[in-house]
Amino acid sequence: MKSVSSAPAKVILFGEHFVVYGGKAVLCSINRRIFVESEITGDKIIVSSALGSLETPVNSRIESVDSVFRPIIFLAQKALRQFSSNSGIKVSVRSEIPSGVGLGSSSACCVAAASSIFGLFARPSKEEILKNAIEAEKTIFERTSGADTNVCTYGGIMEYSKDGIKKMDLNPSFKIVVANSKMAHSTSQVVAKVKKFKEDHPDVFSTLCDNESSLIEEALEDLKRNDVVSLGIKMRVNQAHLEKIGVSNQTLNSMVSLLNGVAYGAKITGAGDGGCVIALVNGKNLDKTLSVLDSKYDCFSAEIDTVGVQS
Ligand code: MEV
Repeated sequence: MKSVSSAPAKVILFGEHFVVYGGKAVLCSINRRIFVESEITGDKIIVSSALGSLETPVNSRIESVDSVFRPIIFLAQKALRQFSSNSGIKVSVRSEIPSGVGLGSSSACCVAAASSIFGLFARPSKEEILKNAIEAEKTIFERTSGADTNVCTYGGIMEYSKDGIKKMDLNPSFKIVVANSKMAHSTSQVVAKVKKFKEDHPDVFSTLCDNESSLIEEALEDLKRNDVVSLGIKMRVNQAHLEKIGVSNQTLNSMVSLLNGVAYGAKITGAGDGGCVIALVNGKNLDKTLSVLDSKYDCFSAEIDTVGVQS
């Protein structure tokens, strides 16, 4: 029997990094997915994906596994233990989400793999999928806030803090343009850099956290009112906060500045220091926004995914 699941990519509209320190974030899942297919077979764990392949004994030490494959091996080992199986598992991953550029490919992979692998034994609830996906992600990114895994699991637009999620029942008039700088980053390294900034400048960081919190409360009202102009202005302010904590760079700044010339607002999405920027648009400025950047950057218009993980 094969068990197939998929989970969506995500963008962060507001609050990345500050969410790691207890603030809120506003996230949205988008219509690019990662697909994971699992099968009980043989006596090893076998993983294949566009990032490479691995074949390993079922009882291999998780710390010794290459970090690219570690979350999947962790999930396979946990499921085999939990359901007292002596078999192996074969896992295949196919992704529409570019990896390492802030669109949540790693979280989406953990969510889709948790659903697919545990689905070999019993249909898991979304709560179980999320719990296992966060444990798997922590094998490579200990400090994760859990924001990305939550939105990849439940889908839609959501307010997230470490206290929980609030799915927003909206019918937004805006669209999101995603522009990929094609500069890969490591989320855990960028998060460590922000930790250092916080330690070196505790007062500045604390003020920025407060400012970001107020900004998000106002942005949530804009979202409810569908006020795209006001929301765009707040995205520009959020970008300024991210620049202050040192997660932007010259390439991202110039992409954001060009996008700001035609869209309502633009900012980094996700960890920064590379990766993607997003721009807020509607029917009036979508085409212009898609064409404003050099063709060396990958630009696309994203639709909001309302489904989350699916099997
Ligand atoms: C990464 O997409 C978002 C960060 O806030 C990290 C996290 O929330 O775990 C940078």
